[in-house]
Amino acid sequence: MEFGCEIAYMIRGGFHGLGLGKMWMYLLLREALGRKRFLFVELHIDKANTPSVTIAEQLAHDRVDEWTSPLFGHQGPRSGHYYAYHAYENIFLQTAASMKKTPLELLSIFWQLWDEGIDARQFLPYEQHVERPTLCSTLRLATE
Ligand SMILES: CC(C)(COP(=O)(O)OP(=O)(O)OC[C@H]1O[C@@H](n2cnc3c(N)ncnc32)[C@H](O)[C@@H]1OP(=O)(O)O)[C@@H](O)C(=O)NCCC(=O)NCCS
Repeated sequence: MEFGCEIAYMIRGGFHGLGLGKMWMYLLLREALGRKRFLFVELHIDKANTPSVTIAEQLAHDRVDEWTSPLFGHQGPRSGHYYAYHAYENIFLQTAASMKKTPLELLSIFWQLWDEGIDARQFLPYEQHVERPTLCSTLRLATE
């Protein structure tokens, strides 16, 4: 998954239902899509795992696939029927919309190009016109 990562997570027993799962998923999404600049995050969830499905759907993940596999699974409730969810990075989402494609369609184009040796991330409009502050310049500003 050159362009994305999968997140698997668990909240320790005794701490369920306190909002921690949703908060952690939000923080992990921010880390993956914001700081690490992945284009998408993937989750594999058993459909019987209501809290996980709720978190994925509330945090704007798209359901992109489903399958049955009794051998696959995490802890928690299991039915053997799994959903795959994707959450996408915002500029990637906007690029897909401007091309009138779903994010999944754009991702599959990116993968095809990758197979031909082209990293399509170079075509995304990520240009920064503002120089990023360095630790050195921030310290200088603070001490001046
Ligand atoms: C799935 C898991 C991470 C959820 O964490 P959590 O901290 O218990 O969940 P939250 O308290 O953030 O609840 C998230 C939402 O699910 C709902 N929810 C929680 N438990 C629920 C239950 N038993 N039935 C129905 N809904 C439930 C909550 O109401 C909340 O929705 P809301 O904000 O609209 O009220 C946790 O149960 C867990 O670690 N499970 C085992 C491992 C696992 O399944 N990992 C996920 C694999 S992708």
